[in-house]
Amino acid sequence: MAERYKIAVIPGDGIGPEIIEEALRVLDKAGDLYGFEVDTQMLLAGGASIDKNGVPLTPGTLEICKASDAVLLGAVGGPQWDNVDPSIRPEKALLGLRSGLGLYANLRPAKLFDELSHASPIKDIKDTDILFVRELTGGIYFGKSGEYDSSEVLSDGQPEGHVAFDTETYSEGEIKRILKIAFDAAMGRCRKVTLVDKANVLTTSRLWRKLFFEMSKEYPEVVIECLYVDNCSMQLISRPHEFDVIVTSNMFGDILSDEAGMITGSVGMLPSASLGAPGTPGLFEPIHGSAPDIAGTGKANPCATILSVAMLLRYSLGLTEAADAIEKAVVDAVTSGYRTADIYIGKEGEMLVRSSQMADAIISGITR
Ligand code: IPM
Ligand code: MG
Repeated sequence: MAERYKIAVIPGDGIGPEIIEEALRVLDKAGDLYGFEVDTQMLLAGGASIDKNGVPLTPGTLEICKASDAVLLGAVGGPQWDNVDPSIRPEKALLGLRSGLGLYANLRPAKLFDELSHASPIKDIKDTDILFVRELTGGIYFGKSGEYDSSEVLSDGQPEGHVAFDTETYSEGEIKRILKIAFDAAMGRCRKVTLVDKANVLTTSRLWRKLFFEMSKEYPEVVIECLYVDNCSMQLISRPHEFDVIVTSNMFGDILSDEAGMITGSVGMLPSASLGAPGTPGLFEPIHGSAPDIAGTGKANPCATILSVAMLLRYSLGLTEAADAIEKAVVDAVTSGYRTADIYIGKEGEMLVRSSQMADAIISGITR
């Protein structure tokens, strides 16, 4: 009997539903070839859930995700929800899923596809393959925050007036578990870990550094490096190929992973995995957003979502061969010249295709 898995699917908003449709076709083909079956349960979150339920994530949706083997998500958000109450913005769905499922480790590979190197703004970019390991359920995103009216006066005599604050908190336990993910990942890669922080200013960063040095002793084969976040944002541009694994806090990881997406030329190609304790379902999604400007046009690049399916098979279901086959089929489709609009420049051999045609090319390339 074929192994059966429960996958919660959240198409979301904008291009989300279109790219998810293509990704599910890929998942079906992989299942046929590699002998597994998936029961998908389609769920609303983000703007689509605000419209239907008044909130971006219902407790019921979270429960179904918790009871699944993995969650596949398209994208959430769009201009029609820009003015809703901040406490129910579409993005809150993502934050609720991350904290609700305990997904503390966000893996964001930023890998350059050789054929797409022309799309990188960096001249002569080569062999860039970075794995961002971003802490995802702590730091300033989840610290104490609030607002109050102050009666204090500033140094220039102006009243402080209304005050808003967000705080960054990290515990030893939270830091150690994400550092371990980074060191373990590096052991299966090029054995280098860069810690990115702001230890010249922040107390939390100094705790990260201390624990980083301590843990590095357990991994004598791994080369370590520490960079301040401002310096790292520069080094990512000047020497991207020298990085292997970058481990960092929630906020710094958010910022730097977007930068790296640009360096590799095409956010339309980059997947991500958010993982928690062993046995809990992971959440897999493209790193790009809902791209409302091209929703419904058939122009969206489904590759990042398809590669997220590969990560889902690898990390949550342990189906490594099927994951490898999908990743290879994506590389082959790109090598054969298939290009959605975001990666098309009209070079000889390139074929401008729609989302569904890109997925067709990938599906026919999946073999066993
Ligand atoms: C991301 C996004 C989210 C984040 C937003 C939408 C809450 O930017 O996944 O990188 O900041 O984590
Ligand atoms: Mg981001």
